[in-house]
Amino acid sequence: MTETVQSAAQLDSDRATYDELLALARYRRSVRAIDPHREVPDELVEKVLEVARWAPSAGNGQPWEFLVIRDDDMRRRIAELYAKQMADKREMQEAVWGHRNHIGFTGFRNSPVFVLVLGDPRVIDAYPVRTAIEKGENHFISSLAQATVLAHLAVASLGLGSQWVSDVSSPYMSTMLKSWLGIPRGMKIYDMFGIGYPAVVPEPTSRRALEEIIHRGQYEPGKGRDAAAVERFLWDDTLLGGWGATGAAKARRTQAEA
Ligand SMILES: Cc1cc2nc3c(=O)[nH]c(=O)nc-3n(C[C@H](O)[C@H](O)[C@H](O)COP(=O)(O)O)c2cc1C
Repeated sequence: MTETVQSAAQLDSDRATYDELLALARYRRSVRAIDPHREVPDELVEKVLEVARWAPSAGNGQPWEFLVIRDDDMRRRIAELYAKQMADKREMQEAVWGHRNHIGFTGFRNSPVFVLVLGDPRVIDAYPVRTAIEKGENHFISSLAQATVLAHLAVASLGLGSQWVSDVSSPYMSTMLKSWLGIPRGMKIYDMFGIGYPAVVPEPTSRRALEEIIHRGQYEPGKGRDAAAVERFLWDDTLLGGWGATGAAKARRTQAEA
């Protein structure tokens, strides 16, 4: 059963302002420290998913469905499954990058609610034939991402916190979760997020400067980053260097300054 939006006039009068949207976009963070003692009522989870379902999607295919998990035992099993997968992941990280920091954030385990984002790939048939053949999978995944990011924004707007747990889409975790939760094999497990009340305000985050990422009319070569700039960015601002906080990232900075 589908539902259409309200009249254009009604929508226009209810429109959120740019300033509200910007404030929300800046406020939303990945919250990895959750208060295990504060419940999140169903009503709030439904508010989050109500926002998510208004996301745009390729061909209006709306591939998303959401599985809400509250059961203590199931959440514990999922957190353990995740920890198990992290062992291999850390080993790979160490082999390639020489450090295993900042892999496998387990804070989500304290969230009273986990939400699995599922996708039905049959909606790829909604796309034009050529689109479906050449980039059906991309469009399908992008559509799931739209709903997920709206859900995270909605979580933030309610004063709650959420953490992406993208490892659930790996073949190992997906297979196990489908079996435990009765999810049809044909469905895609795209992502999962925990919802809870933040226990700690996250450290400030950074974003690339607006002027650096806008090219006007043509790609502006002066704004292109050389390899050294990209490498600095990766170690100082991204997960690779623990957002600049790891010993490896600090050592690189000291070396560069010397
Ligand atoms: C596609 C995608 C996958 C992500 N996967 C994870 C994850 O598995 N675990 C996690 O803790 N954060 C995950 N994140 C969150 C990012 O690390 C985070 O958005 C980024 O570092 C910026 O920080 P912020 O969300 O606090 O602004 C993911 C984000 C996206 C968009």
